[in-house]
Amino acid sequence: MVILPMKTMKRNITCGELRKNDAGKKVILNGWVHRKRNHGGIFFISLRDRYGITQITVDTEGNTELAAICDELRNEYVIAAGGIVQARPADMVNANMETGEVEVIASEIEILNKCEVLPFQIEEESKANEDLRLKYRYIDLRSANMQNRIKMRSETAFAVREWMTANGFYEIETPTFIKSTPEGARDFLVPSRLYPGKFYALPQSPQLYKQILMVSGFDKYFQIARCYRDEDSRGDRQPEFTQIDIEMSFVERDDILSMTEGLMSHVFKKVINVELPKNFKRLSWEEAMETYGSDKPDLRFDMKLQDFSSFAAGSDFQAFLSALEKKGAVKAVVVNENYSRKQIEELEAHAKIYKAKGLAWMKVASGGALEGGVSKFFADKAGDITKELGAKEGDTIFIVADESRRVTNIALGAVRSKLGKDLGLCDPAKFEFVWIIDFPMFEYNEEEKKWDAAHHLFSMPQEQYHNTMESDPGSVKGDLYDLVLNGYELASGSIRIHDSEMQNKVFKIAGIDPEEAQKKFGFLTEAFKYGAPPHGGIAPGLDRLVMIMAGLTSIKDVLAFPKNSFGISPMDDCPSEVDQKQLDELRLQIKPV
Ligand code: AMO
Ligand code: AMP
Repeated sequence: MVILPMKTMKRNITCGELRKNDAGKKVILNGWVHRKRNHGGIFFISLRDRYGITQITVDTEGNTELAAICDELRNEYVIAAGGIVQARPADMVNANMETGEVEVIASEIEILNKCEVLPFQIEEESKANEDLRLKYRYIDLRSANMQNRIKMRSETAFAVREWMTANGFYEIETPTFIKSTPEGARDFLVPSRLYPGKFYALPQSPQLYKQILMVSGFDKYFQIARCYRDEDSRGDRQPEFTQIDIEMSFVERDDILSMTEGLMSHVFKKVINVELPKNFKRLSWEEAMETYGSDKPDLRFDMKLQDFSSFAAGSDFQAFLSALEKKGAVKAVVVNENYSRKQIEELEAHAKIYKAKGLAWMKVASGGALEGGVSKFFADKAGDITKELGAKEGDTIFIVADESRRVTNIALGAVRSKLGKDLGLCDPAKFEFVWIIDFPMFEYNEEEKKWDAAHHLFSMPQEQYHNTMESDPGSVKGDLYDLVLNGYELASGSIRIHDSEMQNKVFKIAGIDPEEAQKKFGFLTEAFKYGAPPHGGIAPGLDRLVMIMAGLTSIKDVLAFPKNSFGISPMDDCPSEVDQKQLDELRLQIKPV
């Protein structure tokens, strides 16, 4: 059969629209055959498009031509169906379908296109393996879930633009071919044909451009910007992703925080009808690390890290004592669950990924006695310990001791996160925002024995550290902030340096010598000489935002065409080799591995 261009059977209504009061109307629908059943010559076709599903009923008795067409139909054939809308009898109404009150009694069916046997079934939640779904992404995207997620993403981007524009921001595009400048991750490079040996880089973010736009006086900028980072993919990471990039002039930290709260409130209300609190909680970075062992704590559940050092100091347990002697920390979490040996071993293995030497535990038995694990060292203090930690009968206490306070916090924090997930405390319908503020400016890089910028090189150290920052970089706090939602870093930003002298000081601490700084960032420090206003900004990740609103845990599920975990797109099989001619034009030669 030759498929002809559509002429007569063009739809006049979609598959999601018909209701009871449309009964009697003559309609034409176009869509995909979602299901087909044949009850002795009467065919029931669920016809699907983006808007919904409508039941088409075709009585083929006495019409051999129509019967032949209906017989031929298979799932995912694209068809046109013409007929009369009919209200279903009360007992046949399908309350699960928006169009469930009606059916279309079709007298005409036209096949607009056929479909081969599908590589996997289109279901709400696909059971096919990920690479197969990504290879046939166009089929995968037909499922109701994927359609809803892509719709939510579009609505989110729209709500962002709506709010930003209403609040006086200009949307300004910045280049995607830029100068390669260090910004945390590895750059993707684009070779220049006109200048062999030279490269453009794809932006890791529009950071420097948005700062320069402030120098130009644009005052309030935003952009829904594609960003590119050559790093390994994870659940919440892709090599190519999207930021809601924002920058403002003449602002202080709290202006950026309240602006972001306003934006988030608008988006959540518009997209998922959730009312957010006017102001989000705030925790200093130090409090977050001490209380939750993470700079992105999931506040949907409590289970705080508690100090256990006084009990450790009074015990004979060597592992704990030696941690304290070396000025480390001993901390505990209490979980309202009786854990089996096997589960405890799993948790211990998890703690060890984060460099813990072990994971000590004990259980609170009847009468408040401690038993199991390291309880023999603490039996005489059971009453004080359970009181202090707020532990009840049936609870398990987990303890980490380490000579490094950081390792203690992070490892026990990782245990806390795992407990929260395993115990189902992470309700996807709950949204717990928290600002993490007062981050350290610099982190010591043990491998390279030097200080690195903790966020990026352009954040402003807080004023009280300006005189001591060179002699004691480790203690400097910056005006840096992260917005954390349900344990994910949703957004990150800072008040920026707007003065070339301060900028050069920060470059120097991060081990970037003046010559290198001039070569890589000279255009920024130069711009700062010509009247740079005080400014600051933030960048929420759009993919993560939609992922969390949709109650998901992988950003792949909210991207139409993501890369797989190996950075590959199975659909078009990229990255791929290029012709020798292309390489020659670029004067590139591939080194054998
Ligand atoms: P940062 O690097 O923290 O800051 O990124 C900001 C936000 O972007 C999202 N994000 C990602 N999402 C998916 N995949 C990735 N690989 C990925 N990397 C980051 C996160 C993150 O919070 N220029 C600064 C922002 C600023 O200072 O204004 C920046 O890019 O949601
Ligand atoms: P050990 O005496 O080394 O056999 O350890 C006894 C228990 O204490 C085991 O459950 C270990 O996991 C745990 N443990 C050992 N060292 C530490 C530590 N530094 N912090 C927490 N628990 C530890």
